[in-house]
Parts: sequence; structure tokens; C-alpha cells
Amino acid sequence: MTGKAYKRRTHYCGLLNETHAGQTVVLKGWVDTRRDHGGLVFIDLRDREGIVQVVVDPQKVPHVHDIRNEYVLSIQGLVRLRPEGMVNQQLASGKIEVEVSELEVLSSARPLPFGLNEEKTSETLRLQYRYLDLRSKKLQKILRTRHQVMQLVRAYLSEQGFWEIETPILYKSTPEGARDYLVPSRVHKGSFYALPQSPQTLKQLLMVSGIDRYFQIARCFRDEDLRADRQPEFSQIDMEMSFVDEQEVMEVNENLLRVLWREIRGQEDIGDIPRMTYHDVMKRYGSDKPDLRIPWEIKDLSSVVRGAGFQVFEDVLERGDHVRGLGVPQVGGFSRSQWDKFTKMARQLGAKGLVWIKEDQGKLSSPAAKFLGEEKLREILDVLQVPKGGGAFIVADTFDVSSSVLGHFRSFLAHELNAIDTSRDSFLWVTDFPLFEFSTEEKRWVARHHPFTEPKEEDVPILLEGRKDEFYKVRARAYDLVCNGHELAGGGLRIYRQDLQQAMFRALSMSDQEAQEKFGYFLKALQYGTPPHGGIAWGLDRLLMILCETEAIRDVMAFPKTTKASCLMSEAPSPVDGEQLVELGIKLSSLTET
Ligand code: AMO
Ligand code: AMP
Repeated sequence: MTGKAYKRRTHYCGLLNETHAGQTVVLKGWVDTRRDHGGLVFIDLRDREGIVQVVVDPQKVPHVHDIRNEYVLSIQGLVRLRPEGMVNQQLASGKIEVEVSELEVLSSARPLPFGLNEEKTSETLRLQYRYLDLRSKKLQKILRTRHQVMQLVRAYLSEQGFWEIETPILYKSTPEGARDYLVPSRVHKGSFYALPQSPQTLKQLLMVSGIDRYFQIARCFRDEDLRADRQPEFSQIDMEMSFVDEQEVMEVNENLLRVLWREIRGQEDIGDIPRMTYHDVMKRYGSDKPDLRIPWEIKDLSSVVRGAGFQVFEDVLERGDHVRGLGVPQVGGFSRSQWDKFTKMARQLGAKGLVWIKEDQGKLSSPAAKFLGEEKLREILDVLQVPKGGGAFIVADTFDVSSSVLGHFRSFLAHELNAIDTSRDSFLWVTDFPLFEFSTEEKRWVARHHPFTEPKEEDVPILLEGRKDEFYKVRARAYDLVCNGHELAGGGLRIYRQDLQQAMFRALSMSDQEAQEKFGYFLKALQYGTPPHGGIAWGLDRLLMILCETEAIRDVMAFPKTTKASCLMSEAPSPVDGEQLVELGIKLSSLTET
């Protein structure tokens, strides 16, 4: 198999076409398929650019009969036009074939555990053999797009005056709301590095350094519950700018968005990107990342149902809470048991119950019919703009609970009923987020974004004076970029006054001593001339999910982890030698399999 003189490749298989007819070429690639007709052997040779048919005469290459799928070959041959009627319109190289004069097997291959482009292979098997799955057309296309996106981002931001700067991975805790991944230090036994949840404090320090505009395609690590759009290790397009307001950060990022959609999606004009406050999106869509391709809106029904004689509603209104509803087409014909399931779902989502109204061929039904009466039911359907054959979902509760329950139904039903116009992408800036969120678990206020976000100027006194009972109304100078119901990017303007930063830590129930231990270096830096600054970070993987139209974040990463944060290919994480532990001064108290 070896010993022949090395021949340099002249072309990629998939890039050959009729313009190369008559040329002698050297190709290298994998055997995608082969058809052995005895007299002649046809091999589809594949490389990352595509496939070309090569024709081998066993008289010239006797060992061609031994070749199997996925063998790696080097061939030399003459490109010729295929005879009339033999043209393959499916292939870019379908008008030609290569008549082989020399063939060398560079590498043999065992039969693969699964067919490369087979849809039905289990994901476990594919992840175990990720390097083989990456040979598939779909994943190669995604990796190419990922590369293109990274190049476009680098080019655009460099042009806008951003410097690409790398920040450390072995570092100190940078809180973004998840648990840290820790790395034990051998030199300083008993001490640990934390892998960055984001380069947040580091990029702010670069602003203190006068870098003015920074970006990085940054790896972030978060030990949190994983979902379809979350990985423990992921990438951000992270940036920070000095002397800016919200408007400037948004402009730079809208233009980046336009570049990406033009170059990758082929869309010249994505139109104006609307901006809405957090309060407004919660009111209208019940979500802080609404999919605007869904045409339905939540409406307040409090004034419609007040005094109508339904005690459940009266009680809620009496408390100062709300009755809100969502009109949905097509659900009027759903069975009673289906509506019971919706009611159960509403309860699981935190509501006390669900009042529904359905309209089926002029006939109304509702569990609240006997209390509200037909006229009121019709009025409600009217307000909710329910078309014939549709229905209404009504929840009486606090603003937050009714938002989240109805917001969930809005998105769930739109998917179920195929009511999303997927021919376009929808973009939205959400602004004016609350700065804090009360954690019932920890019984304290936590930062909704992260503890470095600046409050709106008029709300600063509440923070400086530590007026905890008013924390719920403090708004942040934060913004999220939302696309098709996904949070694509999030950022904000930062606190650049040391006293305000300290007040923020106190507000989060951090003692001054704890703040010193965790962020002393950062608080110190803020005292040496800090420019006002702000920035944002995009989830690169989420961006690619949208650009490549895939529902799984695993598809857009070369070597992803499972929802249990393990790598099925390498079997990481794995136990380590006792000796390594001794060196690190670590003793395991118990070994528990999860
Ligand atoms: P944030 O935590 O909102 O902000 O993260 C920014 C973006 O990163 C993506 N993202 C994730 N992607 C995949 N897997 C995950 N586990 C994951 N977590 C987040 C999301 C999100 O919008 N330092 C701030 C940014 C700033 O303020 O400038 C930050 O990290 O798309
Ligand atoms: P009940 O009086 O608890 O039997 O409820 C009567 C109907 O009202 C049932 O269909 C419940 O699901 C619904 N319901 C109860 N509480 C609420 C609420 N807070 N919001 C909406 N519907 C409710």
C-alpha cells in the first residue's frame, strides 16, 4: 500500500466539473460508495467539498476489488465528460468522471457502525463515534457555516475598531447565575481556579486599561441544568465598548446582525429591529424572549369580567391581581379531555386553574359558562379576537404567573398548530429589564443579568440607600437581542462607580468581607479611572442553531456533551489516578455514581 512516490493533490473531488475535462488530476478522499461491475469499478470518491465519480479498470488496478467503503484513496486520472444519458444532475461534478490511471490505498477502514447520512441512527451511537458523524453532509455544512460566521464576526468587529483579546480560562469565579467548574491547584493545595462563566470582569478590566473596544470569541463554562439549547461549555461572541450608551451598542450589533443575515442567509434586508421594554413584552407575549412570528397576543380581561359573577375572578381582582387571556385559532373543536389536559398543564405551570372557552360551529362551551353566561363568553372571545372555530385560555393570577402560563401556551400551541411563519426570522430588542429578581430558594435578591449591570439613573438611589422593599422596581440598563423566541445575545451598561458596585454586592446579601474576597481586585480597579462602558455577548452556538435551522445545540458544536454533561466519545469526565489526587492534595470523601 505504501512506497509509491507522494503525489500532491491537485483538486478537491467535489469541486471538479466540466471545465476540467481533459486534465489529469490527483485526488484524495474517502470511498463513499462503490459499484463493482466486474469489468469496471465505479467509485464515488468523497472529500469535504463533495463527491466525484472515478472509474477504475481492474486490468490496470487489480486490487480495486478489495477496496471497501470509507477506505482512503489517492488517485490520479483523466477528467472526461460523461457519455450522454449518464449525467448525474444531483452532483455538482455530475457531468464528468475521472478515468483512473493510478490508485493507492492510503488507509483501509473497518465497516462503519452506522451509515453516514442515515437519519435514524441513535444519537448515543453517533456521539460515541462523533468523528464519523462529522463526516456527514449535514454536520460538515454546519461546521463550515460556523467557520464562516467566526470569520465574518472577526472581520466586521475589527473594521469597527475592536481588538480581539484573549482572557484566561484558569481564573476566579465570574458569576452569571450558574455553578462554577473548579480546577484544583497543585502548587497551592486546597485552592482552586474557577473556569469563567463568561469573561465579564476581565472585559470590564480591559476597559479600565483603556482598550476602548474589545471582542473575543470566548469559551464559557457553566455547570447548570442542560437543555436543548444549553451546553456546559459554549462560545460567546463577547464584546465591550467604552464611552457608549445603549443606542451605540445596539447599533453596532444590529449591523453585525445584518452582515450575518446577508452573508449566511442571503437576506439583503431584515428590516428595522423593533425595541420593546421587558414590561411590554411580558404584557403582550408573556415571555422575555417572545417569538414575534406568532401572531397572537395576551389581553387583559379584568375590566371585562369584573362584576360578571364568577367568584374565582372576583377574588383575584379583589387582591389587585389580573384576569388575562389568550385567543387561539383552530382549538375550538378540541375534545373536553384535551381541554382537561390543558387545565392540568396550566396547574403544573403554576396557575390555580384554567378557564377556557371554545367555539365550535357557533356553539360555545366553557367550565365557567354557568357563572359568566353566553353573552359574557362571547364578549371575551371578541376582546381576545378569537376567530370562528377557536378558543380562549384565561388565567386569573398575579401578573407574573399569568404571563408565564399564557406565554407558555402561546409558544406551545403555536408549535403544535404549526402557526409559525417560518419563512422569515423575527428580531427584537428587549430593554429595561428588572435589575433584581427575588430567589424564593435562596430567600434573597439575586441579579437578573449579573451583578455588574448598571441600574437606570433614576433608580440608583434605591440601590445606594439599600431600600430592599423597592428592589422589585429597579430597572437595569440591560438589553437582550431575541430571534425567533431564542435569546441570541444579552448585555448592558455597567456599573463603573466603586460605591455603586459595592452597594450592588450588599443588595445581593454579600457581606463586605465576602465581596472583598471574591471581587476585591475588581473593586480596587474601579477606583483608578474607569470609563463608562457597556457591551454584550452573543451565544455563538444559539446563533448557529438559528442560521442552520437546527433544534439541537449539539449539532452546531464539533464535540458536544450530552445533557448529563458527559462526552460519550472520550468518556469524560472520568476517574483519575490516586497519585494525581495525592499530588493535588485531594481526598475523595465518597464516590457516588449519578
Ligand atoms: P449571558 O449569560 O446572557 O450574558 O450570556 C450571553 C449569551 O450566551 C448564550 N448562552 C448559552 N449558550 C449555550 N449554552 C449555555 N449554557 C448558555 N448560556 C448562555 C445565550 C446568551 O444570550 N457576560 C454577559 C454578557 C454581557 O453582559 O456582556 C453574559 O454572559 O445566547
Ligand atoms: P373551581 O371553582 O376551583 O372548581 O374552578 C372552576 C374553574 O375555574 C375550573 O375550570 C378551574 O380550572 C378554573 N380556575 C380556578 N382558579 C382559576 C384561576 N386562578 N385562573 C383561571 N381559572 C381558574
